[in-house]
Amino acid sequence: MCGIVGVLSKHEAAPILVDALKRLEYRGYDSAGIATVNAGKLDRRRAVGKLVNLSDLLVHEPLVGKSGIGHTRWATHGAPSVSNAHPHQAGPVAVVHNGIIENFRELRAELAENGMQFVTETDTETVALLTQHFMAQGLGPVDAAFHALDKLRGAFALAFLFDGEDDLIVAARKGSPLAIGHGAGEMFIGSDAIALAPMTNEITYLEEGDRAVLTRTSLQITDAAGNPATRAVKTIQIDNTRIDKAGHKHFMAKEIAEQPGVIAQALGHYISSDGQIILPKPDIDFTAIDRLTMVACGTAYYACLTAKYWFEQIARIPVEVDVASEFRYREPPIPARSAALFVSQSGETADTLAALRYCAGKSDTILSVINVPESSIARESDLVLPIHAGVEVGVASTKAFTCQLTVLLLLALRAAQDRGEVDAKTLARHLSDLRDLPNIVSTALGANAEMHQAAIKLSEARDVLFLGRGLMYPLALEGALKLKEISYIHAEAYAAGELKHGPIALIDKHVPVVVMAPRDALFEKTVSNMQEVMARKGRVILVSDATGIEEFGQEAFATIEMPQISSVLTPILYAIPAQLLAYHTAVAKGTDVDQPRNLAKSVTVE
Ligand code: F6R
Repeated sequence: MCGIVGVLSKHEAAPILVDALKRLEYRGYDSAGIATVNAGKLDRRRAVGKLVNLSDLLVHEPLVGKSGIGHTRWATHGAPSVSNAHPHQAGPVAVVHNGIIENFRELRAELAENGMQFVTETDTETVALLTQHFMAQGLGPVDAAFHALDKLRGAFALAFLFDGEDDLIVAARKGSPLAIGHGAGEMFIGSDAIALAPMTNEITYLEEGDRAVLTRTSLQITDAAGNPATRAVKTIQIDNTRIDKAGHKHFMAKEIAEQPGVIAQALGHYISSDGQIILPKPDIDFTAIDRLTMVACGTAYYACLTAKYWFEQIARIPVEVDVASEFRYREPPIPARSAALFVSQSGETADTLAALRYCAGKSDTILSVINVPESSIARESDLVLPIHAGVEVGVASTKAFTCQLTVLLLLALRAAQDRGEVDAKTLARHLSDLRDLPNIVSTALGANAEMHQAAIKLSEARDVLFLGRGLMYPLALEGALKLKEISYIHAEAYAAGELKHGPIALIDKHVPVVVMAPRDALFEKTVSNMQEVMARKGRVILVSDATGIEEFGQEAFATIEMPQISSVLTPILYAIPAQLLAYHTAVAKGTDVDQPRNLAKSVTVE
């Protein structure tokens, strides 16, 4: 959360910084700001709200200078306001920060004792004040910044810019990612390489605890122990499509529409032309694994909950699934002969990364299913399974979810194969069904009009329930999460069988109930629960296939028809109505679909 950038350029810094911040706005959009050094003098501009407000301010109050730092904020300490917006300046130093300084209260008390004044409510201001304090004691900018860094506890990426120094940026990484970009006689930093895409694709990733001193022509890195360190310069392929909606009204709509293509892409990476499931190296032997632990947050957690059914039913491996923020602190015993699998679109989610670190050295193998191959979670895993979804910009995860499911299903099938739990004919049938999946997902996208109609009904509700059984239960959870995060309508999901254990008390004619129920072995059970809802005047929106709708659709308030598909694949297909119902409801309500309030795409604080 929060995005930081820095440039030591040959050109004016402000437009470069603003463009880079545009690519980082997914990390937070509560406020934005930049600082530059011009003729040796630090100056800054900051504005509350989206980046466009900063751009407007810069039209009226331009900022010149060829070196600068910038920030887009997701508020942690202190409300979104101009004074809490970064960069924070204390005398000769300006600082931008992503993360949390955990000991900032102690540091504030110490600084106050030294007579230093605070003008913001942020934790970041302490870093600027500490640096100013050490500079006042006679240290040069680099030493002062390093002394300040020595005093910090927490997780952060930081960049420092100094008065009188138009060829110097100091940067540090501890817990939050930071990429350095190499140009010709120019140097850049960014929270991710995508921010730097228009400037360079030559990237050095800082490691945990690294500090970097940048000039236009040099980069000096010291590691966590304070020793000089060399980090590779990698030429990376950057998908440059981040700011292109390809004719869609929202990134979310574009990303939903992309799913047939990206699912096909993911399948192509894992299924060979002769029909074998190929995993990246080093391969894993599932006969050596008696238990799988899966950990993630949010939508990625629901992908894990879905995969639990696949691993247990198809591969007969017992699976434990937990949300990362709970897992990391409950100190679960990790049994021998177990693997731990972490699922994350960004690969930077702080809690998931901490959970991974807890398992490192305890589990036999650390696997990750990620979308960003250079991410921290990928770099700390033994086996990395990329989902090949391409850059996901919309804050609400869509195509990453279906690609996560696709890769997890392939992994479960491969586990079943290793363990002799699936015969060759059944495996070939599953793979053939998977190969048909992109076409079937395209057909499902065609039911857009039905989903639009149902969404109009949902948009009038204050509360919505989602019900599902078996593989549809995690999908119900995902549908409710999508709806609440982008339409701000209160939505809850329950396993259909749990309804009468409490939630049925909520049902009345004002509460729409979305029932996800393909005509599978559990259909009749779910239909009984649906009828319990209708008996209490609940308005059911039934999402099913033609057979299900023919049997029970006439009793429902609205129906959404999905194509027929093998029951193993239903979660991937039924993700489409879960996403489109939320999307159309949000559009009907006029909310900010791609950047819903209070959220950020990459959650790098716990
Ligand atoms: C919801 C959503 C979030 C993320 C969660 C984990 O639409 O996108 O719930 O799934 O923050 O993020 P990653 O997958 O980056 O670890």
